[in-house]
Amino acid sequence: MDLNLRRARAADLDAVMALERAAFPPGVVEERAVFERRLKVFSQGFLLAEAAGAPVGYLCAEVWTSWDAITDFDARRFRLGHDAARWLDRRGNTLYIASMAVAPNYRGAGAGRALFRWAVARLLREFPRVRRVVLVVNEHWAAARALYAGEGFTEAGYLPAFFRPAGGRAGDGLVLKKETGRVATPA
Ligand SMILES: CC(C)(COP(=O)(O)OP(=O)(O)OC[C@H]1O[C@@H](n2cnc3c(N)ncnc32)[C@H](O)[C@@H]1OP(=O)(O)O)[C@@H](O)C(=O)NCCC(=O)NCCS
Repeated sequence: MDLNLRRARAADLDAVMALERAAFPPGVVEERAVFERRLKVFSQGFLLAEAAGAPVGYLCAEVWTSWDAITDFDARRFRLGHDAARWLDRRGNTLYIASMAVAPNYRGAGAGRALFRWAVARLLREFPRVRRVVLVVNEHWAAARALYAGEGFTEAGYLPAFFRPAGGRAGDGLVLKKETGRVATPA
């Protein structure tokens, strides 16, 4: 599949919301205002995959000061609707992948892995202080878990019943992380 990978813009928000609603059930889906805020405060972390000229996937990320400060796995950091500016630190050492989704009719063909790899590599280049990548995945999301396991992520903790879809079964949030292998950059 021929993918074009690029930064998202405000004009992409309708398409991003369509991807979001197709990927996540009520209770787990983000509000448009949350994406608007992410684009405003950290557009570098808002990335898109296009096929045939239309968005077919997105990935949102933040850079945080330090993983060491969140050994208690403070769920507020990961919660739906959290303010992207709250923990943002462009000089930080932790890349947090807040969300990603691929359009249903494009899944299972490598687009998710391509978008994820490209996005992480790009953000590691742009933020050379980053030494680890973290994310949270619902225990029940098999495709996402396979993708992250294949990229070398391992479990670092879990958030009991963190995902609560309206009318659906709750799922534990698995906190996954991967060390980049880089050494610390002096301040
Ligand atoms: C997770 C998601 C982004 C993956 O995108 P995708 O384009 O389908 O992924 P890929 O085709 O690149 O496949 C990635 C891996 O997942 C595996 N996979 C794909 N669909 C799967 C499924 N239904 N069950 C189990 N594994 C699956 C693939 O085999 C592949 O692993 P492999 O290379 O070891 O074989 C997509 O499924 C999606 O949008 N899901 C709904 C939203 C979501 O869960 N987002 C993640 C939030 S943490």
